[in-house]
Amino acid sequence: MRQAGRYMKSYQDICERYPSFRERSENVDLVVEISLQPWNVFKPDGVILFSDILTPLTGMNIPFDIVKGKGPVIFNPVQTIADVDQVREFTPEGSVPYVGEALKILRKEVDNEAAVLGFVGAPFTLASYVIEGGSSKNFTKIKKLAFSQPKVLHALLEKFATSMAKYIKYQADNGAQVVQIFDSWATELSPEDFEVFSLPYLKQIVDSVKQSHPNLPLILYASGSGGLLERLALTGVDVVSLDWTVDMAEGRRRLGADVAVQGNVDPGVLFGSKEFITKRIHDTVRKAGKGKHILNLGHGIKVGTPEENVAHFFDVAKDIRY
Ligand code: CP3
Repeated sequence: MRQAGRYMKSYQDICERYPSFRERSENVDLVVEISLQPWNVFKPDGVILFSDILTPLTGMNIPFDIVKGKGPVIFNPVQTIADVDQVREFTPEGSVPYVGEALKILRKEVDNEAAVLGFVGAPFTLASYVIEGGSSKNFTKIKKLAFSQPKVLHALLEKFATSMAKYIKYQADNGAQVVQIFDSWATELSPEDFEVFSLPYLKQIVDSVKQSHPNLPLILYASGSGGLLERLALTGVDVVSLDWTVDMAEGRRRLGADVAVQGNVDPGVLFGSKEFITKRIHDTVRKAGKGKHILNLGHGIKVGTPEENVAHFFDVAKDIRY
């Protein structure tokens, strides 16, 4: 997740040499090097492209930066239909060729030893950044638009849906074997509003990708998704990623047998003792039961996480035989 690399000393060293996030995430050599850092040390089953959900925005005529200590900043937040008209549909080949190149190299580097994972932001979550101007606590600007001029928001969501469907296909065509869709802030919506402002666009993306790439597994993640689980499954994704506020056994029951689950160890557990980490991994795997399960944390790994505890997580996970 977004902080995934930050706990590693090797990543912090690169940040010192290349302080700009945009540079680190848009230079093929750096993207490859950073993506491979966790793989070189822990040999996980999946290698995640180093990028950000906001990376496509410049190609859509929405300039942004990620500022240390502040997070994402959108220079000209979208407010009116005229602003939405200025948003260009995304053409990944032209706008983010470094993503395709990096994925191709990653695919070769890890060969068949690990799956290469790509990811995109969901329309509502991208719209929240673009309308709020960055990270938000109250989401008042996007809600004002949603509940007073819904057509403007729908026009923006539609552009993101078409663009992200294209982007997923582009990532798959260049070597991503699984793609995760982050609707991190979907849970800021009430379930009834989720059905209006998020679900249809997620479905549109999934349907479009499944038409051309029927075998590409899609994962969907939303933070704090306990109130929305059943609705997340309605999108048609293959895997629902649970955060740690949902009990894994309950999540599995509520999602049913057709959907695989991912997650959901609390990232804070990695600050605990080795015994505690071991116990929580076993609990999570046991609770996930016999159906398909991708063992993972319930959200991004936190800065300050001891690397030896991460190594322990992988050692325990790899020894599990069920
Ligand atoms: O394994 C990896 O390297 C993961 C790569 C990754 C990043 N962002 C790199 C990143 C992924 C999967 C993301 C996704 C992302 N980005 C999400 C969805 C996941 C989630 O957290 O729910 C979201 C909401 C974003 C937007 C974003 N990017 C924010 C809010 C921030 C600031 C975070 C902070 O605490 O400062 C970022 C910056 C960002 N993206 C960092 C990283 C490693 C940290 C800044 C840095 O390293 O310079």
